[in-house]
Amino acid sequence: MKNAFLWLATLGLGIVLFIACSDHGKVDQDTVDKDTELLPDIEKKYNEEETEALKIASDVTLVGQQTLTANLVKAIEDSGTAGAVVFCNIHVGGIYDSLKANYGATVSRVSHKNRNPANAANERELKLIEEYGSKPEVFALSLFDDGDHYTAYKPIHMSILACTKCHGEPGVDIEEATFITISMLYPDDKAIGFKYKDMRGLWKVEVPKTAL
Ligand code: HEC
Repeated sequence: MKNAFLWLATLGLGIVLFIACSDHGKVDQDTVDKDTELLPDIEKKYNEEETEALKIASDVTLVGQQTLTANLVKAIEDSGTAGAVVFCNIHVGGIYDSLKANYGATVSRVSHKNRNPANAANERELKLIEEYGSKPEVFALSLFDDGDHYTAYKPIHMSILACTKCHGEPGVDIEEATFITISMLYPDDKAIGFKYKDMRGLWKVEVPKTAL
């Protein structure tokens, strides 16, 4: 009996060590990644071109945010929350297009839990969402030089309670008719279960260098 126990304990320890060791490289990699923050450094000095790209991105996200919220509130008033889902589905692209026409920048929103499959965050964006999420007081845009264009990101939070009407808990925050409409238009929807003030995603603004 005692031997059997010892044998089991040794086997258990062996398995733990095996898992720990085989994961070692990955753990190191994670640590390295966590040390290199992507969030903007407030001390950082931007050159003229970068400053201009940030200015455009800042204007675009501000106008985009205002336009989307105003349209959303109106759509909910006019045709209820379920109707407003259809509005978002049809008109968000048009709002991005008019921002592009006015500012020459490509605009979108991405998320770690996306509704539209086209809005899935990539590796860099997932990391940014995690970092902004752990620092809800930081709203500064982060900027990346991506060769022929700059990419700027700004955090999106569940800033008003009404966001939960379409991104909260089904049956609690999301009414049945709304949930049915969402499920029909977005069968792979991941954008539910958010709470008021949660990190929701990022504005993404790509500014071509030729526009600067
Ligand atoms: C009337 C329902 C409704 C409300 C209210 C609503 N949304 Fe959405 N949201 C949608 C739909 C529909 C989409 C998918 C749009 C598309 O097809 O690009 C979406 C997409 C998004 C996306 C893009 C990423 C993704 O998941 O595809 C973000 C970010 C987002 N919403 C944030 C918010 C925030 C923040 C609020 C509150 C200010 C809010 N939403 C309120 C319906 C809603």
